[in-house]
Amino acid sequence: MSATTLGLGLAGLGTVGSGVVLTLQRNAQLITDRTSGLVRFEVARVLVRDAAKQRAVAVDEGKLTTDWRELVDDPAVHIVVELIGGTDSAFDIVAAALKAGKPVVTGNKALLAERGTELFALSREHRTPIHFEAAVAGGIPIIKTVQESFVGNRIHSMSGIINGTSNYILERMTTGGLDFTTALAEAQQLGYAEADPALDVNGWDAAHKAILLATLAYGFAIDPAKVHVAGIEQVRPIDIEFATRLGYVVKLLAVVREHPDGAVECRVQPSFIAKTHILASVNGVFNAVAVHGDSAGESLFYGRGAGQDPTASSVVADLVEAARSLQGQAGHRGFLPYREEGRLLPVEETRTAYYVRFDVTDRPGVIAEIATVLADAGIGISGTHSPVNPESPDEDFVDMVFQLHSCSFGLLQETLAAIERLDCVNSSPVVFRIEQL
Ligand code: NAP
Ligand code: HSE
Repeated sequence: MSATTLGLGLAGLGTVGSGVVLTLQRNAQLITDRTSGLVRFEVARVLVRDAAKQRAVAVDEGKLTTDWRELVDDPAVHIVVELIGGTDSAFDIVAAALKAGKPVVTGNKALLAERGTELFALSREHRTPIHFEAAVAGGIPIIKTVQESFVGNRIHSMSGIINGTSNYILERMTTGGLDFTTALAEAQQLGYAEADPALDVNGWDAAHKAILLATLAYGFAIDPAKVHVAGIEQVRPIDIEFATRLGYVVKLLAVVREHPDGAVECRVQPSFIAKTHILASVNGVFNAVAVHGDSAGESLFYGRGAGQDPTASSVVADLVEAARSLQGQAGHRGFLPYREEGRLLPVEETRTAYYVRFDVTDRPGVIAEIATVLADAGIGISGTHSPVNPESPDEDFVDMVFQLHSCSFGLLQETLAAIERLDCVNSSPVVFRIEQL
């Protein structure tokens, strides 16, 4: 049987879109061979914002468009690949493609976490799949793992590092001695960051991915407004220095976990992880997701979490799956809710130990004042320290750090609010969780 040529409507020719074109060019014959000679792809249409821009990959001028309708409506387009990002035009493109019965491949976690319920309903209605392996952890095949390989497991937890940009920045600040801004600029230069890098550093990119994983594992739509999200903007060199001294590393951690009563915990925040834990050695753009299933036990998935080639690898895998579905196995894939609703554990009820940094006015009795409020709340202290700045040992304002025993986040928040009202405390305390993974 000869290969069927399938036309791709490629929306977006930036970092990932260009990577897809290059991978398809490089491995065209391999892909045809691996699909028993049945599949050959051709880029039929390309959507960009600025048709006059110089591109790293060559595309026939006649195939370029700035109107997404031309791409979706083109009869030569059999599969729509959405790689423009965002939740507005991207939504319109994906919705129109599904209505037209054209399978969709996307790497857009923001779109699926924010508007996935509507899109997967359309997918079901029109019996047309959405493939989204590239949306979580770049080149790591974690979506198929959860959807397929763990389908017979009750998933107890999925914890991990799922934002390459933040992980890259933290490592460059820790071992390269770079400041935050320079490290972020490097991550952007390398093609790791989102078009709006605020999503990387404020934790929301990781949160979108955590929501997708939780949704797949627990079968109900998760409201992003109920997810606790903090990013790495608040991490300062002093926190990294303290973590190192105490035997930890600072990582932006996503935690998804099912509690015995069925409540699902889903949160993202910079955390202290014991330096002996395997996640502590996940550095640079690498991601890792530890999945704990009741049958499989603990598995760790590790690889490049962002960047042109790793992400293109996941997109191309989805293209082949979409092609296979077009050749006879069409149907709905993705988020198939199997219960109306579930209980998302309020972040106030989550429990860990903590590291808290206070900016205080240095005077006798400050430690005692803070310790008294903590003791009144029943929160135990396992350590405290106030480093002297060697460059200005007599300065009035100092950082004071406390390590606190495990308590609920709600109790911690109430207690920190009381501490913030003390005269000696100058700004809101900065909290890191000390995770026992
Ligand atoms: P990017 O480099 O900023 O590229 C975006 C592309 O989309 C550009 O070609 C741009 O056109 C086009 N575009 C943007 N808005 C448009 C609009 N409204 N109409 C028409 N074209 C538009 O982004 P990227 O890094 O490739 O990321 C694309 C998607 O993949 C995002 O959803 C991102 O979250 C996801 N993703 C990225 C990575 C990564 O490592 N970068 C990894 C996994 C997933 P112009 O070129 O004319 O400006
Ligand atoms: N900006 C994202 C990251 C891209 O740094 O992880 C991969 O989703």
